[in-house]
Order: sequence, then C-alpha cells, then structure tokens
Amino acid sequence: MISKYLLAFLLICTPFAVDACWIDGEEYPAVGYGTYPLKGELCTQSITKAAAIGYRMIDTATFYENLGAIGDALQVLGRKNFYVTSKVWHDSQTPKLLKRDLMRTLKKLKTSYLDAYLLHWPNSKISIEDTLCAMEELRIKGKIRHIGLSNVTVNHLKRALEVGVPITWIQVEMHVSFYQPELLEFCKEHGIAVQAWAPLDRGRVASNPVVREIADKYGKTPTQVALKWVVQHGCVPLPASKNEAHMQQNFAISDFTLSQEEMEEINAKAKQGQRDRVTPETGFGFTDEFDFTYDECWPKRS
Ligand SMILES: NC(=O)c1ccc[n+]([C@@H]2O[C@H](COP(=O)([O-])OP(=O)(O)OC[C@H]3O[C@@H](n4cnc5c(N)ncnc54)[C@H](OP(=O)(O)O)[C@@H]3O)[C@@H](O)[C@H]2O)c1
Repeated sequence: MISKYLLAFLLICTPFAVDACWIDGEEYPAVGYGTYPLKGELCTQSITKAAAIGYRMIDTATFYENLGAIGDALQVLGRKNFYVTSKVWHDSQTPKLLKRDLMRTLKKLKTSYLDAYLLHWPNSKISIEDTLCAMEELRIKGKIRHIGLSNVTVNHLKRALEVGVPITWIQVEMHVSFYQPELLEFCKEHGIAVQAWAPLDRGRVASNPVVREIADKYGKTPTQVALKWVVQHGCVPLPASKNEAHMQQNFAISDFTLSQEEMEEINAKAKQGQRDRVTPETGFGFTDEFDFTYDECWPKRS
C-alpha cells in the first residue's frame, strides 16, 4: 500500500513540474509561452490551455495583433498569476509614440501594467537615450516592471547600458541550430536575463541529428531536448504551439538533465548555424549578418 507520505510526494512531483526561473524573488516555470502567430479565439483558447498545463510567462507584441485575445484570457485566469512580456515595433520608439503604444497595449490586455516591455527591433535612426529614458519614466510610474531589448548585438547592449537605465531582459533568436555564446556571456556578466525566441527552430529541431540521438538516449522528443538545452544555458525558452499535446510536451522537461558533454556537442552544432535571414528590405536597418559597429547602433543624442 502507498503510504500517505509517498502519495503527497507524488502529488508534488506532477509531470508538469519544470525547472524554475526567479524574477524579483518570484518563481516562474522556466519555459514560457510564445503567442505568434495566434490571434482571436484560437489565441484566447490556447492561452487558457497553456495556463492549465502550468505556463505562467506569456510573450506577445504589438506586431502580433493578439493583445485583445490575450487580455480576454487573462481576465478570466487572473492577470497577477502571469508574467507578461510585450514588445513595441521599431516604428514606435520615439518617446511620444512609445508611450502611446504602451497605453494601447495595456488597454487591449486589460491590465494596468506590463511585466516586461521590450523594443522589438532596435531602430538605428532614433536615439536610444530618448527611448530608454521614456521607458524608465513608465517603469517609475509602475506601468512597466522590467525593460528589455530584442534582436540586439553586444554592441547594442554596450551602447544601451551607457544610458544608465536598468535593462532586465533581451529576447533573441536561440535554438539548437543557432546561438551566440559571446552575447550570452556578455549578458551573464551584466546581469541581463535572456529569452530565447524560436527555441524549436520553428519546428525544425527534429532534423538536427545530434539532438535526435540525445533524445533517443533519454526517451525524450527532440523538442524536449532542444528546450532543455536552452534552459541549461540559463535562458527562458518561449516555444509557440497551438497543439495541446505539444504544449504539454514542451513544458515537461524537468525529469532529465543533459550532460556537459551533450551540451557541448549541441553548442558546437549551434555555433555553426545561421540566424533567420533579415533582409535589408524589412526596413530594420539590419543586414542578415547584424553587422552593426558600436557607432552604427543608434545615433548619438543631439
Ligand atoms: N523577438 C522577436 O523578434 C521574435 C521573433 C520570432 C518569435 N518570437 C517569439 O518567440 C515565440 C516562438 O517562436 P516561433 O513561434 O517563431 O518558433 P518556435 O517556437 O521555435 O516553433 C513554433 C513551431 O513549432 C511547432 N511545435 C511546437 N511544439 C512542438 C512539438 N512539441 N513538436 C513538434 N512541433 C512543435 C509549432 O507547431 P504547433 O502549433 O503545431 O505545435 C510551430 O509550428 C513566438 O511565438 C514569439 O512569441 C519573437
């Protein structure tokens, strides 16, 4: 017969338990939930399913056009139970437009604050001093808890840190077929946390032979190994899925650990990979190499 003590232990170790992520002394599951390209009712339903599985960190952006749908879900689920990140598009990063974007974001999400507000892509034509000071003002007013940047290089971070506004997060592409060890090292040195976008290489991780072999060894799926690799790098993966079985699989990665050797094997492959192409036509001012020098990242304040 199972003793009541053993039963209690089993209940605590639910299959959905995951590694933890600590933010300001609050504990969150280490795997977040990406919401692009979900919209409308499908988005609201997916957030509700994800929440039932245990997801507590939600990533969105003005560009995703799903803020209202997420707001509908959060109203029922309880806003305070979630860490919500949103991102302002590169065309709205002047102080005036950024404030307007945030107010619209809060209204659509039906909340009075964002946990994290990030610049979706840096805009090389707008002073980062002006943008970050506007964000800091909003942080002091309690509209944002944390400030962050997305799709940045070490040079961007060097420039941004000089402004003296606390940068809590960056969100960058990171998966078993592409990662940037120097950027992660820089973030570690400066106490900046990292969210990994496209952590499943947009559904392509199963074609990575190293990952497949490790997955077979542990009786896991390639996606679980790919997410565990991100978590063991100390980063927060933001896998997206509209499929409940996938959501559960992506969340249940606590019961195995990759060895140092396996981490290094995946690292070696990921270092050789390439980021998703960003062509000059997208208007971000980036080439696909992101080859910004320190001086090119942002204009000096006039
Ligand atoms: N900051 C930025 O510029 C930026 C850029 C891109 C993305 N993001 C954020 O990062 C999130 C994730 O990125 P992403 O959506 O591009 O890529 P991703 O999470 O790497 O991949 C999503 C794809 O993987 C599939 N998938 C998920 N779980 C799976 C599983 N267990 N087995 C097999 N397939 C699975 C999904 O299909 P199913 O729905 O069928 O499961 C979907 O097609 C986005 O939602 C967004 O929040 C940010």
